[in-house]
Amino acid sequence: MMDRPVLAVLPSRRTVLALGRIVDPAGVLVHVSLHQGYADRFNAALSQGDARSWKARSDWSGCQLHNLFWENLGRPGIRVPELATRDLEEVAAEVVGSGWVCLSERPVDGEPVVHAVQGHNYPWIDGMRPLLVLDLWEHAFVGQLTDRAAYVRNLIGLVDWSVVEARRG
Ligand SMILES: [Fe+2]
Repeated sequence: MMDRPVLAVLPSRRTVLALGRIVDPAGVLVHVSLHQGYADRFNAALSQGDARSWKARSDWSGCQLHNLFWENLGRPGIRVPELATRDLEEVAAEVVGSGWVCLSERPVDGEPVVHAVQGHNYPWIDGMRPLLVLDLWEHAFVGQLTDRAAYVRNLIGLVDWSVVEARRG
């Protein structure tokens, strides 16, 4: 997967505006630039034959996670309760420092499971198929830093569940 350049698929205007209602709007723009940075750094590493380093892997995964993140936000719809094996807010609270909370299909049986990801460790490593990813890095909730739980709760309210459902195998 890491033998070709990555493309940062930036958020739609609708998603930027939606996020700007729950965190600092200027912070959303910084967040977008960070996403582009992950892609740029990975692509530079790839061109230098260094795509397998820990840092390059982290940048690759950071880019892919953000591609999924923007896409699964911005058009709130009907929640799909059968997909949530654990409470997203509860698992988010277990993430120490920077990371993600994900809903992914488990390779062994195709069941969707809610799990935490530390840093930018990529959920694909164990064959998981991410269906929903929520960014818990501090850069994601500038303006709401004193209350991460409120950020997570509001973020879940922005999930486009039709995108989540469409990602199922
Ligand atoms: Fe992020």
